[in-house]
Amino acid sequence: MKKLIGWKKTRSAVFISGAGSNLKNLIKFSHKIKSPISIEIIISNNKKAKGLKYSNQYKIKKQIINFKNHKSAEKKILKILLKKKINFICLAGFMKILSSSFIKNFKGKIINIHPSLLPKYKGLNTHARALQNKEKFSGCTVHFVNSKLDSGQTILQEKVKIAKKDTSFSLRRKILKKEHKLYPAAIKKILS
Ligand code: GAR
Repeated sequence: MKKLIGWKKTRSAVFISGAGSNLKNLIKFSHKIKSPISIEIIISNNKKAKGLKYSNQYKIKKQIINFKNHKSAEKKILKILLKKKINFICLAGFMKILSSSFIKNFKGKIINIHPSLLPKYKGLNTHARALQNKEKFSGCTVHFVNSKLDSGQTILQEKVKIAKKDTSFSLRRKILKKEHKLYPAAIKKILS
């Protein structure tokens, strides 16, 4: 067991674009005494992201970055992250693709959660596509981020059985529940 004296949590940022259920879950996880991360900042490309409310609720600084110009947006983010001494990034429903030059600054330190059994169903509308293809299983994957969309090395993956009566909505809910277990487990796996 790791010694708790002198235990330093890895200073982390969470990037979101939407509801932020994974963000909320990661914040709760980060508050646990043995969690390997502390969340120092929330970054969003979307000023209307519902998940931004967790910034106030949990007293974590937030920054909203306009991505109209992708290059300058990444430059701004990099500046913020360096200033905050961030060395780990969790993408949690962040719907922008980070450039390879941005990723290079955090080699092996950016991870993402995706609601499918990667390499199946990269990109958007994963649940609708899985249902349309009459898949028997779907699930979620936490993976390292590289310059190709949803293609970095898998850290952990969890299966979910698709029921005949499942809709995109019900499947999304079932998978989100699994995501909330999988994301902290993946972080522990690589940082503990
Ligand atoms: C989650 O299902 C996450 O896996 C997915 O967006 C949702 C965000 O929900 N991410 C992607 O599709 C990334 N390609 P949340 O905002 O409630 O955490």
